[in-house]
Amino acid sequence: MPDESLGGWNASARVYINFQDAGDPNRTILLDPVMLRLCGKVAGLRVLDLGCGEGRFSRMLAERGAYCAGIDVTREMCVTARERDASANLYAISDAATLPFADASFDLVVSYITLVDIPDYRAAILECARVLRPGGTVVVANIGFGSAQPSGVFGWIRGDDGKRQYYPIDNYGTEHAETLEWAGIRIKNYHRPLANYMRAYLDAGLTLRVFEEPIPETDAYRDDPYMEDWYRLPLFTVMRWHKPPA
Ligand SMILES: C[S@@+](CC[C@H](N)C(=O)[O-])C[C@H]1O[C@@H](n2cnc3c(N)ncnc32)[C@H](O)[C@@H]1O
Repeated sequence: MPDESLGGWNASARVYINFQDAGDPNRTILLDPVMLRLCGKVAGLRVLDLGCGEGRFSRMLAERGAYCAGIDVTREMCVTARERDASANLYAISDAATLPFADASFDLVVSYITLVDIPDYRAAILECARVLRPGGTVVVANIGFGSAQPSGVFGWIRGDDGKRQYYPIDNYGTEHAETLEWAGIRIKNYHRPLANYMRAYLDAGLTLRVFEEPIPETDAYRDDPYMEDWYRLPLFTVMRWHKPPA
C-alpha cells in the first residue's frame, strides 16, 4: 500500500517511535491510569490492541497477565513491537477496517489514540464489535474536540511570552482530514464530531458504560509549563463500551 494511503505512517514510524521513547506525559501521566482502570482485571483475558504502535500498551497488559494480539497497519510498528516484547503477545500487520480474526475471538478490545488515524473508522468499530465475544468490553482513548484544529495549526496559540492563550478549533461539525507535522513527524489525522463516533459504536450494537474526559487527579502539574494545559481543556475522551451478552 502506498504510504500516502497509510496516512504517512511508514515514513514517520521510526521518528514517531523515537519521539515516544523520550516519554509522552499525555500517556504516562494522564491516560495510562484511566485506561488501566477501565480495562479492569485483565489476567487471563484475550485482548486485541487496535493500532498497537510499537506495542507499549500491549506490553503493559501482558505484564498484568493478559494475552494480547496487537495489530497495526504500519510494518515498522509491528516489527518493533515484536522485537520489544518478550511475552507471548502476537503482532500482525493489518488494517483495523478488515481484521484477520474470527468472530468473538477477544474478551477485550483496546484502542489507544488510534481512531483519529484510521480512515474508515466506522468499519473499524464494526470489526471491533464483531471480534469481541458477547459480554466483552471495548476501551478506547481518542483525541476529543482538539482534532478540529484549523489547517496548519498544531496545539495552543501562544503569546509573545510563550504562554498558552487559547486552543483554536474550526469546522468541528464536519468530518475532515488534516496533515499534522511536529518533531519531524508528518501524518494524517481525521477529525470527526464526537456524535459521529458515538453513533458508530451504537450502530455496532455496543452499550456505553463509562465516558470520561480525563484531567489529572492531582494538582501536582498545575504549574508545570508542559502540563498546565491539561487543567484548562480535556483534550482526550476515554470510553468503555460493552457488547451485550448473547
Ligand atoms: C498515534 S499512534 C498510537 C499507537 C499506540 N496505540 C500507542 O498508544 O502508542 C496510531 C497508530 O495507528 C496506526 N494506524 C493508522 N492507521 C491504521 C489502520 N487503518 N489500521 C490499523 N492501524 C492503523 C499507526 O500505524 C500508528 O501506529
